[in-house]
Amino acid sequence: MQKNQVSYTDKIRAASEFLLQNVEGNAEIGIILGSGLGRLMGEVEVIKSFPYAEIPFFPTTTVEGHSGELVLGILQGKLIWCMNGRFHYYEGYAMSEVVFPIRVLYSLGVKNLIVTNAAGGLNPDFQVGDLMLIEDVINLFPDNPLRGVNYDQLGPRFPDMSEPLSEEWVRRANQEAYNLKIVLQKGVYAGVPGPKLESKAEVKYLRFIGADAVGMSTVPEVIAAHHMGIKVLAISVITNESIPKVYKEFTHDDVVDVANKAGGKLVKLIKSILN
Ligand code: HPA
Repeated sequence: MQKNQVSYTDKIRAASEFLLQNVEGNAEIGIILGSGLGRLMGEVEVIKSFPYAEIPFFPTTTVEGHSGELVLGILQGKLIWCMNGRFHYYEGYAMSEVVFPIRVLYSLGVKNLIVTNAAGGLNPDFQVGDLMLIEDVINLFPDNPLRGVNYDQLGPRFPDMSEPLSEEWVRRANQEAYNLKIVLQKGVYAGVPGPKLESKAEVKYLRFIGADAVGMSTVPEVIAAHHMGIKVLAISVITNESIPKVYKEFTHDDVVDVANKAGGKLVKLIKSILN
């Protein structure tokens, strides 16, 4: 069969069958590592690593700081699938490709997903290096992963979005952060298409519509995971201040640098949440 004749669901099946043929055990937890947050990988006891290029129908990553592998491993005694690198809309992928790995994780038996990212802080109470627990999302992408044919076997045509992030996970994360004495901000994450960063007027607008942080990922993944009934926890590392009055120029290198530095706190928190 030619590649372009394979249906989306057959592609998901082919990718998950390939992975299951090569591993044993059933991981119910998935983790997505955002820009500069690869340090969590150092804590994972790797059982098997699959470069994205080797997984049938997986897109391949193009961004610096994203190595691109799906890892089956053990973290805090729990079997996990860890996506080291993700697919961004700004790289040119269709939304169906951006969330393809989430569909595959579901097909592999993942029931809980921890999503991490680097984000700009819009809330003036946030400091660079803070962690923010995402309580809700705003989709500002010009598309969303559920547009088009609905695969009823994956989820409903019109999924409810009143609780896209699991309240149970939010409570747990809050409790663990408190125990660890880690400052854990809370707020709304706005997902924008990128790759350009925000103008001053856009920063004002984002704050006005109720966002506390802004980034170029996560929202499609949250929508797709929630559509399939996966419980999602999402945490941002605030890598820069996108606050109207203190708007400063910054680069992607600054983002990766701060994410690297704050990554330790995030690793600690995720480990204790899994405990
Ligand atoms: N805007 C969009 N994406 C980002 C930012 C930002 O300020 N910081 C990190 N990712």
